[in-house]
Parts: sequence; structure tokens; C-alpha cells
Amino acid sequence: MRSVSLLAPGKINLYLEIIGDRPDGYHSLVMILQSINLADELQIYLNGTNQIRVTCHHPQVPQNQDNLAYRAAALMQKQFPDLADNYGGLDITIDKHIPVAAGLAGGSANAAGVLVGINLLWNIGLVQAELQELASMLGSDIPFCISGGTAIATGRGEQLDTIPPLDNLWLVLAKYNSIAVSTPWAYKTYRQLYHQEYVNDTASLEARATHIHSGPLVSAIQEKNGTEIGKLLHNDLEKVVLPEYPLVNELREICQNAGGKGTMMSGSGPTVFTLCESQVEAEAIKQKIRATIANPDLELWVTQLCSHGIKLKPQN
Ligand code: C5P
Repeated sequence: MRSVSLLAPGKINLYLEIIGDRPDGYHSLVMILQSINLADELQIYLNGTNQIRVTCHHPQVPQNQDNLAYRAAALMQKQFPDLADNYGGLDITIDKHIPVAAGLAGGSANAAGVLVGINLLWNIGLVQAELQELASMLGSDIPFCISGGTAIATGRGEQLDTIPPLDNLWLVLAKYNSIAVSTPWAYKTYRQLYHQEYVNDTASLEARATHIHSGPLVSAIQEKNGTEIGKLLHNDLEKVVLPEYPLVNELREICQNAGGKGTMMSGSGPTVFTLCESQVEAEAIKQKIRATIANPDLELWVTQLCSHGIKLKPQN
């Protein structure tokens, strides 16, 4: 095999709770992560040189070592130097559909796709857990992006417990094109404001994780109950991002008032999503939001929740 084409879905956070500090400088989190059908397309080729080359036509996506996809390929070369010598370099083409710097794990999904793709191209035979261990060296969301679906994530976000997939619901996603939120800034600001509420002892951390496993949101997900899920959405990072970005705060209110089962910001934002029971409902809400906000900088998407992570692109 000389090339592989993959779909790399984005994600939303149905739940994001910040629990405490970690010795590595990150935060202990409890999250529920959910893949969405909005996916980037990746083509990875063996290019016969010794270089990694990334091509992406999106103006905000770097085409050099700063791209997480590049770093994923470099990590595979470092981990498997003999295979890297044998197979040579890689051309990675990213066709962007997931909004950039949006809280939807677009860059993480691309890196996850590169790990999966190189595993196939070099015939390494790593199983999912092994790929996820490598993924966690690159970023907290990347292990989830490999397996996808619906999962409880704890630790830094890399410890995953898959729960039954939730693919019956639809989404409206809303994002101002020109607004990007820095994830490190959001977590740093949260730490400054809420540090006194952090818990760090093992017993408390375990209690919080157990609480989510047996809590009402996971039950609602198991029952595929959109109304309950919508009521239980939660994201601690809203507490720092919404006051700093009044336009996102206003967008969240407008989305919430337009209907649906529930509205929340995803990850560190600034994308806001509204859960819907059907595509028809989602399209109607999208129209309502568009009718309320004439600003051409606002981008809206309708998509469905999905039950997979990285997968081979179906041949046409
Ligand atoms: O792991 P990743 O590179 O995606 O994280 C981006 C940033 O988000 C980190 O540099 C850190 O500032 C913050 N973060 C955190 N705790 C986590 C995950 C991310 O503080 N569990």
C-alpha cells in the first residue's frame, strides 16, 4: 500500500469538569466526549523522500512542524526508526472541514489520523490501545480521536471508558470565523480564578470519576434521551471564556433561545452547539439563528453525532 485516505471526525464535549491540578502542569478532568460527523479528510502517501510534507489550503493551518499532523508523523519516525528508513518520508494532505481553533479537536483528529494511517502504511500492526498510548504523548484529546464514539475521559483526558454510542441526535454548530480561543489561556485563567475549589487527593479524584460513571448524564446517554442529555450538558470553561468574549456569550444565548434540547460551548470554545432530535429541527434552528444574527462572520453547520473515530474513507 502506498497511500491511505481517512476520515477524521471532530468532537464536542457533552461534559467538561475541571477537578484539580496535576504534577505535570495539566488539569485533572472529567469529561464526556462525543464524535461528530463533521470530519476532515486526510490523504497520506509514501513520498519516496526522507521528508514529512504537510499540505493544507486552510489559511489558519500551519504546513510546517507546528502542525500536529506533522508532529504525529515525526513521532512515528522516532518510535520506529528502521521502518522510517525503510519506507521513507510522507506527504500528508489535509482537507479541512472541521473549523480551526474551535474547541472541536480538529488538529487532534488530524494527528490521530496520521498515527492510524502510518500504522497501516508501514504495516506495523499496533492495536488501538498502543496507538492511543502514542497519541497521549502528542495531546490530551488525541487518544479519544482515534477510537471516537462516546466516551468518559478522565486523567488529562487521555484515560477513556467507552460508553454506548449516541448517534441519534443532531447538532447545530455556531462559530464566529474570526474568534479563536487559546486553550492554554482558558485553563490558566480558570486556575487563577478557581484554584481554591480544586481537589487533588486520590480519593476525591476517584469519587468525581465514579460520580460521572453512575450519574444521570451517562444514564440519559444510555437511554438516548435527548431531552435529559440537553438539560445535563456542562462545561466549566464557559465560566472563563464567556465573560471574556461577549459575542460568544450572546451567541450562546441566541442559540439557546432558538430551541433544541440544550446549548453549550464545546471544549475551550468558541464553538457553541445546540443538540437537536432531528435534522429537520437542526435546520430550522440554524435558519432562526441566521435570521437573528446577520453578521457574515458567523458560520453555522448542521451535523449528526457519530459513533466512530478515525476510519478509512469509503471508496466512491
Ligand atoms: O493536551 P493539549 O496540548 O491538547 O492541551 C492544550 C493545553 O490545554 C495545555 O497546554 C494545557 O494548557 C491545557 N490543558 C490542561 N489540562 C488538560 C488538558 C489541557 O491544562 N487536562
